[in-house]
Amino acid sequence: MTHGADPAPVPADTPPSGDGAAPWWRRGLVYQVYIRSFADANGDGTGDVNGLRSKLPYLRDLGVDALWINPWYKSPLADGGYDVADYRAIESRYGDLADAEALITEAHDHGIRIIADVVPNHSSVEHAWFSEAVASAPGSPARARYHIRDGRGPGGTLPPTNWQSVFGGPAWHRLPDGQWYLHLFAPEQPDLNWTNPEVQSEFEAVLRFWLDRHIDGFRVDVAHGLVKDPAYPDLDNATTRMLASSKLPNHAHWDRDGIHEIVRRWRAVLDGYDGDRMMVAEAWVSPERLPLYLRPDEYHQSFNFDLLEASWDAGEMHDIIDSATKAAANVGSTPTWVLSNHDVMRATTRYGLPNGTDWRSWPATGPHEVLDVARGARRARAAALLLLALPGSAYIYQGEELGLPEAWDLPESVLDDPVWERSGHTMRGRDGCRVPLPWSPGGPSNGFGSDAGWLPQPAGWDRLSAEAQTGDPTSSLELFRSAIALRRVHGAVDEQLDWITADDSTLAFRRGSGLTCVVNYGPEPVPLPEHGEILLASGPQAGADRLAPDTAVWLR
Ligand code: NOJ
Repeated sequence: MTHGADPAPVPADTPPSGDGAAPWWRRGLVYQVYIRSFADANGDGTGDVNGLRSKLPYLRDLGVDALWINPWYKSPLADGGYDVADYRAIESRYGDLADAEALITEAHDHGIRIIADVVPNHSSVEHAWFSEAVASAPGSPARARYHIRDGRGPGGTLPPTNWQSVFGGPAWHRLPDGQWYLHLFAPEQPDLNWTNPEVQSEFEAVLRFWLDRHIDGFRVDVAHGLVKDPAYPDLDNATTRMLASSKLPNHAHWDRDGIHEIVRRWRAVLDGYDGDRMMVAEAWVSPERLPLYLRPDEYHQSFNFDLLEASWDAGEMHDIIDSATKAAANVGSTPTWVLSNHDVMRATTRYGLPNGTDWRSWPATGPHEVLDVARGARRARAAALLLLALPGSAYIYQGEELGLPEAWDLPESVLDDPVWERSGHTMRGRDGCRVPLPWSPGGPSNGFGSDAGWLPQPAGWDRLSAEAQTGDPTSSLELFRSAIALRRVHGAVDEQLDWITADDSTLAFRRGSGLTCVVNYGPEPVPLPEHGEILLASGPQAGADRLAPDTAVWLR
């Protein structure tokens, strides 16, 4: 196979290389903060806003353009804060509104923008609207803000449809008076009814509330789930797999056309503010449908999860990058790349599983003997150089820069993800990628806070702490620091990508600045390009002019 010379088209409105006029998000590097596990300033075992404030110099020095902060709103944390009780208040375990406002100001002083997480598909059962709905009669306006319906069968004892919750089990829960409410996620997360004008205007007001507080953008949760088929049909193939089912055409509750009308109204709200305010969609949809979310009057960005889902294969990577780059350019946008987040197994562990293993179906027992730890670490480092060399924007997840592995052997007694209970203890869920960060060796949580964190860190995380890695040229942290600094000079100056002919196992492309990225996906060393000074390598080479397996290199 040759990967052909087929440069991606550059949209007409793309400013010339290096002129600095492109909106920041087109090429930005965004660092995702899972606030509960980032840094704990008050020693209660839970990360908080003031902990994050204390680490702003670290993030500035790392070179990130923006932070995306996972939900920080008042919440019973039934799903890590994606169950919001009050969209205008900060969860008391994380701080208060004054702390959040101080964070936004201080981040801006460091040249870092802040993206908040908006959760419009569902609220918490502790939201005032849901309490009102439960206390009100069937058919009342309070119930019309949610999807609350009569059941089927004698006495309405069966759920209204066969829809399944993403976390396992039926997607309907029965109220004491016999009606059922829809929850595509946990029962603590009732789905809001987006045909209801009150729901629509409330969320526009919530966006304004945060935009008035100088938030630079929003990550929109379950962006492909807001609209449901009003006929509430049964699904032919009801499944809990959000990704698989959201790629089916004309699905009853994923990726429905009505979503785009809502997005356009949000976009008009953002466009009314100064600065480059932006929205990024979490939309698990097919590559053909994704560009619809990126039309000029809709989202600025939508995460591309295909790279994260791909196997370790040069051809697959090439096709994903090529089609995503072209599809984004066709609607005037740039791709938004992701290898890790708070919902998926950490890359260092994922790449250590045997090729072809479905990491999502990883059972309640850990990977044990099948895991190749060294290969996982090598590939995660190579993948990071690929990610940071691609045109468009990149999102990295806290701890990715430290090369943290998945904490797959957390004691069952501490598991907190609703997936664990909902799957009848067959799936451990996502806690393994949400363990508090190690900042410095020693103490009860390696510098996360003055006490143990809400999830325990595995043994050996002292050596993975930011302090322990600093100054070690072989460390993951120093690799990220160097790559991000080089990306600012070479990678993010334009949106050009030209494929270089390569063999079956190699991916190679050149950026407009002359930066060349080569990744060896095969089992054997491959020759390096004849000309070019090596700027950065993810691991040792196999001799002076050969690139070792599972290794990436940047050349100029
Ligand atoms: C996607 C979020 O990333 C995930 O953490 C959450 O559980 C679901 N949406 C439901 O809000």
